[in-house]
Amino acid sequence: MGNAHPTDLDTMTTHLRSDYTPFPYDIPTTDLLFDLKPELTTVTLWLEFERKNDEPVPLVLNGEHITLQFISLNNEETPLDPSEYTVTDSTLTLHNPPESGMLHIITTCTPNTNTSLSGLFTTGVHLMTQCEAEGFRRMAYFPDRPDVLSTYTVELIADKAAFPVLLSNGNLIETRDLPNGGHMVTWHDPFPKPSYLFAVVAGQLACLEETITQDGAEKLLQVYVEPHDLPKAQFAMDSLKASIRWDKARFGLPLDLERFMIVATSDFNMGAMENKGLNIFNTKFVLAHPETATDVDFEGVEAVVGHEYFHNWTGNRVTCQDWFQLSLKEGLTVYRDQEFSSDQLAEGLSPDAATSARAVKRIDDVAMLRTAQFMEDAGPMAHPIRPNAYEEINNFYTMTVYEKGAEVVRMYETLLGRDGFRRGMDLYFKRHDGQAVTCDDFRAAMADANQADLTQFGRWYEQAGTPTVRVTSEFDANAQTYTLHFAQSNPPVGIELKEANLIKAPLHIPLRVALLGTDIDTLIELKQANESITFENITAEPTPSLNRNFSAPVSIEYDYSDDQLATLAATDTDAFNRWDAVQQIFARAIVADMLEPVFSHEQFDTFRSLLTDESLSPAYRAQLFTLPSFSYLAQLVSKCEPLDPQKLFAARERASRALSKQLQIEWQSLYSTLEPKTAYAYNGVAAGERALRNLALRHISSAKPDTTTTQYAAADNMTDRIAALTTAIHEGQDEALLNDFYNRFEKEALVIDKWFTAQAANPHDANITATLQKLLAHPAFTNPNPNRLRSLVFAFCNANPAHFHATDGSGYRFWAEQVLAIDAKNPQVASRLARTLEQWRTYAEPYQSLMREALQTVFNAPNLSQDVREIVGKALG
Ligand code: ARG
Ligand code: ZN
Repeated sequence: MGNAHPTDLDTMTTHLRSDYTPFPYDIPTTDLLFDLKPELTTVTLWLEFERKNDEPVPLVLNGEHITLQFISLNNEETPLDPSEYTVTDSTLTLHNPPESGMLHIITTCTPNTNTSLSGLFTTGVHLMTQCEAEGFRRMAYFPDRPDVLSTYTVELIADKAAFPVLLSNGNLIETRDLPNGGHMVTWHDPFPKPSYLFAVVAGQLACLEETITQDGAEKLLQVYVEPHDLPKAQFAMDSLKASIRWDKARFGLPLDLERFMIVATSDFNMGAMENKGLNIFNTKFVLAHPETATDVDFEGVEAVVGHEYFHNWTGNRVTCQDWFQLSLKEGLTVYRDQEFSSDQLAEGLSPDAATSARAVKRIDDVAMLRTAQFMEDAGPMAHPIRPNAYEEINNFYTMTVYEKGAEVVRMYETLLGRDGFRRGMDLYFKRHDGQAVTCDDFRAAMADANQADLTQFGRWYEQAGTPTVRVTSEFDANAQTYTLHFAQSNPPVGIELKEANLIKAPLHIPLRVALLGTDIDTLIELKQANESITFENITAEPTPSLNRNFSAPVSIEYDYSDDQLATLAATDTDAFNRWDAVQQIFARAIVADMLEPVFSHEQFDTFRSLLTDESLSPAYRAQLFTLPSFSYLAQLVSKCEPLDPQKLFAARERASRALSKQLQIEWQSLYSTLEPKTAYAYNGVAAGERALRNLALRHISSAKPDTTTTQYAAADNMTDRIAALTTAIHEGQDEALLNDFYNRFEKEALVIDKWFTAQAANPHDANITATLQKLLAHPAFTNPNPNRLRSLVFAFCNANPAHFHATDGSGYRFWAEQVLAIDAKNPQVASRLARTLEQWRTYAEPYQSLMREALQTVFNAPNLSQDVREIVGKALG
């Protein structure tokens, strides 16, 4: 549906964390009857309420985009007198309710016109719901807030031919046929839950199912997909079984329901949703088959299946008091899925190989954090992992809440040890099972279970921004001492800049430090703005390896000499810091001299020996030789000067060409030696070999252009095929491969997404404007779902800097048009795209002015959603 809430500045409401008050009523039971029809669905609600306190107080329910048909008290047939209640476009208020009773409310909603993908919506021939954060109120009047927990019984009625599958949360109670071809299914969820975890699915879905036994009890596991996708569901099922085993083994947490269901839909705003016992997923994170999914896709399916399953305890059994506490469930659950993926990669490997496999996962996670989250932390949307204010909660499902939140959880583990962390988790569940709590409750459980003082650690929840730790060193050869001085700083950012008298106090920072050339390897806990530590008996000046394995989400500044970076790159036993040293060598060459990035002979020697070092896993070598991303480099540049994106892009390209040229022999030999000897199988080791080989392909393709076409034709899997296609078209090769690819995969939506992305993100397409117009007009782009929008519009705006930052501003005007067009249908997706320009102040002219103009165009448009208005308002503000 369109924006039924035209907003202007007067109607913008800011929600404040400090405004929290408990809901004045308990809602012990919630009974729902859905008469499911795509044009008009009728929802009948029986809401049991009990006032918590003596004082009478109105009962205020949320409701949006729904039509009230009937309301009565205690199942009376006569409706309530209209004087007893008030309906607005966002609430229903009962002025003088009795102390307790049963509200009976009938409402209607229109799934067919709901394009926001929030609430009950049509997807293909199915009906599905998305309730987090505030979608339940689009179906029924209800206290739609996470701290109101209720026990649900749900009856679903629908036409049996149109909707043979009818699902909701919990256990299946009854199925029965109705006259006139209808049927009715009853579900009961024994666990009290907030409304955001409610879900309904009605459709024509095929199901892959297996049973497992846990603690002597049988559990039914089901994965529901479109019938033609059934051959792509097994990997999700295997990932689910692995997740269930892992949570039991690592945290002692069992599956608490008789059945656990996963449902896939191609129309989804985010990755997936942890509805109790009925997870609903974007197809991108369920479907995986070697011919259609890449290694990265397989990894994504495993991680997201794990993530949603782990929410069953961290999110569902213990939930959030209010949406400001979102990181309580998301940061913790991301930490858990990262650990799960790491264990999966390490499984079955020798101890050394396992350590290296874990490092690869850690590097992936940190590279993403340092690129996207650090950028968020430096811009107008910067917020603490527990925000203090929001206008639209959907805008706060951010890298900060999720990924920085996971780093904060990881720091507990670093400080308390793995056993200590587990004791904290056990106490957290013991205290809070069945409750809606806060981040402070989690911190208290960690502290109390370990008799630790985590008071200062609480500042990680209060302060936005990436702290900088400036490190200097002093070596005294006579005294044989080596001293490290640490200065931490974290100036106000984002919304903090507007807070008068804001004082940001020092954080509790666990910093793992080793001195290369000595046997010192220690955890330093920084707590003051300035502190120093002196090491004795140091006979020669060591090279410090700082923040090993990225023990804290901070930015380290230490003036390494080129020699020291080379030492770290060659000898650091911490795989993360070794990788980081190589990245710093690249970044320095690109950023320091954007006109002519050059590597010295010594540096090429270092590169050559790393690239050919067989003791390093191929996966790790692929990471070592992936240049720092454009966005990461952009941050480094803008710390010193206004960013010229064209200059930066060209400098990064030159560095890449230098690597191709100087290491050509090595790349070519890697490409042949890594030729696959067995059929495709997804596992970390094989994926690493493919990653390195496909990186080699990019470096040899201009010298040996036939390699790409040969690989494309020979590929037995999507990883190698899409790598060949992307390399070929970015090298400017003809359209034959593109057409072949389209024809082969025309029926595979997720693969066609890749086809759009390969073209929209092509940095070397001299006619990109024409290409974009052609793609926008393509029949496969009619009525694009969010995945398709991401594959074209987002891919161009976020992953094609050379063309997006065209000096005539055409990229920014395209952005503005798309934000507005998407906003009219789906504000959540539009508001993600709106974030693309929030760094505009860091750009040089003419970019900066052109970006501001585009932002202003969006801001001035009529009927802007609250979602987009918050983002663009903050960017301009
Ligand atoms: N809780 C989900 C997850 O991270 C995310 C759903 C968010 N959806 C939304 N519309 N804000 O697993
Ligand atoms: Zn989550």
